[in-house]
Amino acid sequence: MVNPDFLSDNAHGCSPEVAEALVLAGEGRMAPYGNDPITRRVRTRCCELFETEVEIFPVLTGTAGNALAIAAMTPPWGAVFCHEDAHIHREELGAPEFYTNGAKLMPIACTPGRPDGKLDRDSLAHALAGGKRTKQAIPACLSLTNATEAGTVYTLGELLALCDLARQHELGVHLDGARFANAIVTLGCTPADLTWRSGVDILTFGATKNGALGADLIVVFRRELAAELALRYHRGGQRLSKMRLLSAQLEAYLTDDLWLRNARHANAMARRLHAGVAELAGVEVVRPVEANIVFPRLPSSLAERLQKEGFAFYNWSIFGDDVYRLVCGFSTTEEDVDALLEAIRR
Ligand SMILES: Cc1ncc(COP(=O)(O)O)c(C=O)c1O
Repeated sequence: MVNPDFLSDNAHGCSPEVAEALVLAGEGRMAPYGNDPITRRVRTRCCELFETEVEIFPVLTGTAGNALAIAAMTPPWGAVFCHEDAHIHREELGAPEFYTNGAKLMPIACTPGRPDGKLDRDSLAHALAGGKRTKQAIPACLSLTNATEAGTVYTLGELLALCDLARQHELGVHLDGARFANAIVTLGCTPADLTWRSGVDILTFGATKNGALGADLIVVFRRELAAELALRYHRGGQRLSKMRLLSAQLEAYLTDDLWLRNARHANAMARRLHAGVAELAGVEVVRPVEANIVFPRLPSSLAERLQKEGFAFYNWSIFGDDVYRLVCGFSTTEEDVDALLEAIRR
């Protein structure tokens, strides 16, 4: 049995198709710095997938993808609005501020009684009105995450309402799609609907968490942003000489719906885990399970025992005392889930 690891989607290796593509990409000579045929094919595939002309920038990490995308729309004196639990706010060590040369993140607290990790239009409107009254920074960008850090998914209606308000205030809209595939399979909508048709200007399209070994992709829908972003991308050290290393992974990821198949599986494993956990006495699940993550509240003695038995997962105290984060990935098996449930029952 694979190590029953619920620590992170990043704990999973890569899909065999990606590994195979990497080996093939090592063959022969190709033009460097993204001028290779694989990178060109990834762009063509993205234009087809998103049903519009896009520019793409493969990146090594989601953090770089987010920070560069935000910097493309935000001057140093700009304000970037986001949810208070956003990865860009909690986990990126100031990368967006660094790449923008000092823009200000404006984290918005979740509405009481709305523990789903989503921003709503009223909270954003309130924050924008507050921003107007002060000289903290000039509103420039809205950054949303879908699927969210809370394992929930913005519906098209919710996304549209937020993007619409952002547009009225002349903000650029960035979508952190580290788990974009998980959101797409939950909603069953098209990638175009969940991005530019709703008003998203730039997407950080995650692949590392969902089958790639290490490659994410910036997808630019407002193409006038691409020329400056290309310079930031180079200066930010993400313009790989051997770009095929990233592009080969992305091509495999987007071929034969691998990205969707992997996400569908991860989400199904989370639903199985949720169903099993929800029937246990004394275990409360504190966030709706809409993607590949389950947040149960467990007695700390139980959590410690499980961890001693070899089940790896993080304590997620920002969601409350004794809350833990259980992440399912593309290689989580039913046996992994059942073993954890069995250990909890014991
Ligand atoms: C929502 C979200 N965005 C971005 C990232 C950043 O990814 P990376 O660790 O590759 O920089 C993560 C990683 O955990 C994430 O969960």
